[in-house]
Amino acid sequence: MADIIEVLKAAGQDDLLKHLETLSGDARKNLERDIASQDWNELKALHAEKSAANLSDNVSADLQPMPFKIAADDLRYDFWKETGEILLGKGQVAAFLVAGGQGSRLGFEGPKGMFDIGIPSHKSLFQLQAERLQNLAAQVGHPIPWCIMTSPLNHEATVNFFTENNFFGMDRQNIRFFEQGTICALTPDGKAVLDGEDHLALVPDGNGGCFRALAQSGSLAWLIERGVRYVFLYSVDNALCRICDPAFIGALASEGRSMSASKVVPKAGPNEKVGIFAFQNKKPGVVEYSDLPEEYRDMKNPDGSLTFDGGNIAVHLFKLEGLRKLQTSKLPWHTARKTVCGIEQCWKFEQFLFDAFPQLGTMMPFGVIREEEFSPVKNAEGNDSPKTARIMIGKLHKEWLKKAHCEVKADKLYEISPALSYAGEGLSRRVFERELGKSILEFDEE
Ligand code: UD1
Repeated sequence: MADIIEVLKAAGQDDLLKHLETLSGDARKNLERDIASQDWNELKALHAEKSAANLSDNVSADLQPMPFKIAADDLRYDFWKETGEILLGKGQVAAFLVAGGQGSRLGFEGPKGMFDIGIPSHKSLFQLQAERLQNLAAQVGHPIPWCIMTSPLNHEATVNFFTENNFFGMDRQNIRFFEQGTICALTPDGKAVLDGEDHLALVPDGNGGCFRALAQSGSLAWLIERGVRYVFLYSVDNALCRICDPAFIGALASEGRSMSASKVVPKAGPNEKVGIFAFQNKKPGVVEYSDLPEEYRDMKNPDGSLTFDGGNIAVHLFKLEGLRKLQTSKLPWHTARKTVCGIEQCWKFEQFLFDAFPQLGTMMPFGVIREEEFSPVKNAEGNDSPKTARIMIGKLHKEWLKKAHCEVKADKLYEISPALSYAGEGLSRRVFERELGKSILEFDEE
């Protein structure tokens, strides 16, 4: 207790200290626990630094585009795929889902992974991922460990959902759920914001908190124990995510001196809300759409194409050495000014996982085709919505069936269960006839 008093005083949190002294019993214990979870020196330094700087997060003037090629066009693609399958078969690959976000733009209350995008099977995003993962694991002959990061806001609901659904048939031993950290919101003048009488306004520390959380939860050690060497890190809301893509894994393993690889999609246009891959001060990384100055956003090459066209689809692969290094490295904090617990213009801080790339120094861009791999569910309507995801799944799966010479209807879309086909393999006219109405479902675009 004496420590807390000293720390709070030194951090200029005298008001919080005074408030704490008015409490007793459980209320006091609750607040003490929240206070002990925070690094008050860091919060003080952060507030000073961010108040002094312009609010927009720094984007260096020396910004250079990062070239990338569509991997499927590369002659080595099949070799990469086979290499990745071998590594998966040896149990050297794990999946890591960051799912601590709130999905507020979508207007869905629960964990975003529980969301039903309205495809005929009504499978949730979590179920689509679990089935794809299991299909791949069955093909390579080895289970794939799955780490799922939640936040205190959605942990219980996430674990309950998996439990109620019997972990979608996966072996419970291969899944690890853990919570990310939180950081206290500050008032405009740097005081800790209270949430009620006996709690701080603690908000998730951003998806960049994943490296710390992976280590602190014991999950990094768990992966090391299991002999994992590559970790496929991805966001919850991409309905087309090719989870643990063997070719992606094989490319990093066989070509890369890099510590990590990232999937890159050509941007749909200057205003698409995706981060872009770029070199900042010669270091590789991502500049978030909200931080990209207009002159870079709209910059064009002589042929009219966008100069900064490498879109971040939030699918990355890390070598385990990289993750070990990142567990203690300090990522920068990004800020937003928001109303928190009724107080306007509060400071909210978060870290972005892609800020790990400049720290690791090297990364491998891996170009992919949007229609095959990127359909994020961000908004209730319009762009990047459940409807666009339904249509993209329906069209892609129809293409798979056409390639397998199945007699599809011109005016219909198709949903193929990820349990039947991971990425279009194993389909034929016979399978189509057998599975139509079971693991292959027909639907209309509307
Ligand atoms: C993110 C990327 C953006 C990329 C886009 C592609 C970041 C900061 N931005 O944008 O560059 O182009 O995806 O779809 O990553 N999450 C947590 N904890 C948190 C906050 C978020 O686990 O505290 C998770 C979310 O659950 C989600 C992922 O991180 O799975 C990305 O979330 P979000 O913050 O919504 O970023 P986007 O705006 O989607």
